[in-house]
Amino acid sequence: MSPKKANADFKLSPSLLSADFGNLEADIAQLDPKLADYLHLDIMDGHFVPNITFGPVLVKAISKLTDIPLDVHLMIDDPDFYAPEFAKAGAHIITVHAEATKHLHRSLQLVRQLGCKAGVSLNPATSLSGIEHVLPDLDLILLMTVNPGFGGQKFIPQMMQKIKECAAMIKGTNIELEVDGGVKLENIRSLYDAGARVFVSGSGIFEKPPYNDTMRKMREELG
Ligand code: DX5
Ligand code: ZN
Repeated sequence: MSPKKANADFKLSPSLLSADFGNLEADIAQLDPKLADYLHLDIMDGHFVPNITFGPVLVKAISKLTDIPLDVHLMIDDPDFYAPEFAKAGAHIITVHAEATKHLHRSLQLVRQLGCKAGVSLNPATSLSGIEHVLPDLDLILLMTVNPGFGGQKFIPQMMQKIKECAAMIKGTNIELEVDGGVKLENIRSLYDAGARVFVSGSGIFEKPPYNDTMRKMREELG
């Protein structure tokens, strides 16, 4: 039986942040597109979050290395200014932080106009109420389950309740509910049971090869 069911109602999005940056091409080549639904790319600017990663140049290079749709998580101030560059670089989903844009509705419309799926991310302390009036403009909600900026942090337990409330809020829509931070083989099922359907995992997948084995086990947990 194929490890990826045609009708699976969940997606895995391995986060490249925990991959080997000295050998990204080899790490990306290891990812089986049948197991990785998205490739999560964390863009950090040193302002919105206390860390710096990479920009559109690297996203473009990565887009040439894989057919896995790129799930671009912008942890940057002024996302409207940079979104066109990431769209041109090959992003499939562009997610902006609600805390980083002054006009969320405008940012989401811009992302869709650029031909990408529009996502919004909320920091752990940000209430769901800030997005309830933009649901028609959303393709994805990314709930941060750690404070953004670094891989390898521990899942914040109170986020379980937020996931449940968010799942109830989007019931009956086509919006994907993604969780990011501290997602591991050990807790992925409980996150699914709470209502999450897209699972970002960095250290949980890249800490040790073979990465496909871990993704296969995660899929079995969710199956
Ligand atoms: C953190 C990033 C995450 C990060 C998750 O700010 O948004 O995508 O890679 O890392 P893990 O899965 O190790 O918590
Ligand atoms: Zn992320």
